[in-house]
Amino acid sequence: MSESIKQRLLDEFANVFGDAEGVEVYFAPGRVNLIGEHTDYNGGHVFPCALTIGTYGAARKRNDKKLRFYSVNFEAFGVVESTVENLVYDKDASWTNYPKGVMWAFEQKGMKVECGMDLVIYGNIPNSSGLSSSASVEVLTGTILRDFYGFEVSNQDIALISQFAENQFNGVNCGIMDQFAIAMGKKDCAIFLDTATLEYEYVPLKLDNAKIVIACTNKKRGLGDSKYNERRSECEEALAELQKELEVKTLGDLSEEQFEDNKALIQSKVRQRRVKHAVYENVRTVKAVEALQNQDISLFGELMNASHKSLAEDYEVTGVELDTAVEAAWQQKGVIGARMTGAGFGGCSVSIVQEDCIDEFVKNVGEIYLEKIGYAADFYVVGVGDGPMKL
Ligand code: GLA
Repeated sequence: MSESIKQRLLDEFANVFGDAEGVEVYFAPGRVNLIGEHTDYNGGHVFPCALTIGTYGAARKRNDKKLRFYSVNFEAFGVVESTVENLVYDKDASWTNYPKGVMWAFEQKGMKVECGMDLVIYGNIPNSSGLSSSASVEVLTGTILRDFYGFEVSNQDIALISQFAENQFNGVNCGIMDQFAIAMGKKDCAIFLDTATLEYEYVPLKLDNAKIVIACTNKKRGLGDSKYNERRSECEEALAELQKELEVKTLGDLSEEQFEDNKALIQSKVRQRRVKHAVYENVRTVKAVEALQNQDISLFGELMNASHKSLAEDYEVTGVELDTAVEAAWQQKGVIGARMTGAGFGGCSVSIVQEDCIDEFVKNVGEIYLEKIGYAADFYVVGVGDGPMKL
């Protein structure tokens, strides 16, 4: 599979930039989060995994300072040019702000990107689906830069530099989950990450005869990004209220009991519900990983379902599209658990479904979704793969 994509990308490169001599091809995965949503910027736990779908990049270093970018997914956009001497955010430059942001971030960390490059990318992650296509492009760029310049950075460093780029260059105040899951991915394992300490553990995804099925709602992004930042500030405000009486560094430090005993310190009911989600979701994530390690898949599924309810009712980041996809999934035969995944407000749901029930699942959930929402969802049965690599 990746061999033929590699060849296709080299052909594209030759088409766009004349020849493909000396071009190297790289891959960085997308990610799906199984449980632990909106906990990463609250110092809690997350449990994502890297996917076998992702972003491929064919790259060649240049002798001058020029940057030339081309995406097979955005053909109409053509070749976008820039230079390493002018690494500034440009809203008209679309996806190229991600690689430029990472180059800028390396420079901020003292690693100078001396020369330009020609880069052709192709992604088989659905765009704007919440499977982290942007973090995938960032980690891909970091991997290319490390290879081109011999920068001494680990995959974890690449994750942190990519997050820094996303926060400071692209202005999205995300946590560390996406870039970490992508840079640190491991085949057939999910990553149990404590975002407060960055301690992590690979947990084999033994799902018996079940698979991960993703439903992309195809809801166009609306207020998503601003609502994301709004949730973050609600949590920050509530933390400050709690810190007047409690010695906690993050919401992730709170147990369920501590939250219940002290929630009156939070002056608004809305913020209380936000914190309730952050605290209970963190505890659920720890329990879910334990369940998986004890091979109690059905408990794992129940915790996924509870996560969705909390994201819908207390954190309010789902919306009719995600709720329809997830509630339809819950009704199907062979479904172990289902929930929204990623930031929410559209994007994807993730379900764990017994292999022999997947066809019927896709058909039934697809019909219910189309009937209620008026346009179709897309389904992907995904594999869990490794982090970034040179092909
Ligand atoms: C987005 C962000 C992540 C995380 C999730 C919600 O994917 O990029 O850092 O906050 O939303 O869990």
